[in-house]
Amino acid sequence: MTAQLNPRGDVAVLVPAAGSGTRLGPGAPKALRLLGGEPLLVHAVRRVGRAPSVAAIIVAAPPDEVAAVRAMLAPVAPVTVVAGGAHRQASVAAALAAVPAELPIILVHDAARALAPPDLVESVAAAVRAGAEAVIPVLPVVDTIKEVGPDDAVRGTVDRSPLRAVQTPQGFRRQVLAAAHAAAVDPLTDDAGLVEKQGVRVTCVPGSDHALKITRPFDLLLAEHLLATE
Ligand code: CTP
Ligand code: MG
Repeated sequence: MTAQLNPRGDVAVLVPAAGSGTRLGPGAPKALRLLGGEPLLVHAVRRVGRAPSVAAIIVAAPPDEVAAVRAMLAPVAPVTVVAGGAHRQASVAAALAAVPAELPIILVHDAARALAPPDLVESVAAAVRAGAEAVIPVLPVVDTIKEVGPDDAVRGTVDRSPLRAVQTPQGFRRQVLAAAHAAAVDPLTDDAGLVEKQGVRVTCVPGSDHALKITRPFDLLLAEHLLATE
């Protein structure tokens, strides 16, 4: 059954899903690859749609797959599907242009984080609603981190205590995200990175192990296991 989004919700979620998934290996675009028999994008949209604050979902699909993605998501949740761009930021910008004007909070979420739970969507949105201009979910870094030279020689050990691994959804006051995208183009940074460049304070909330980004084949195996034990 198609989930209904909350017409009184104050959140739009952008789901960039136009990447190819090079690191996952040959096959369909990553967002359309299967996890437990369903495309990653279906899992991601279903979980976003279950978050009670969400009033709109805009997906940036691979340009050749817009019609197919629209048909695929119709039974999952009411979504708007636009064509994505050549890099992630271009896909986010395309989705941002389709956000209904009245929604004050915008979350940006990778389709590749297919199992990010609705609770995480809610906690990021709640932090923006409570006054933060930009919010990112983070996890502590568990591995020892070293800086290594091109000759494979260790140059030093980084103090990991202030380091965090950053996930999505990232949440923003609408004007903050729009201004950052209008001002900056740096395909190598995330949305919070663009906002940082505008001098806006970005605050952290606890992330979730289930919000792992499915990047390499091992991540897909791990996600299969998480899905089976959800
Ligand atoms: N993405 C996008 N448009 C692009 C590139 C990436 O919408 N031109 C999206 C991906 O679909 C994914 C998210 O951004 O949901 C995070 O990107 P990543 O995990 O790097 O996915 P891919 O770019 O598909 O993977 P790879 O880098 O291995 O090719
Ligand atoms: Mg990529």
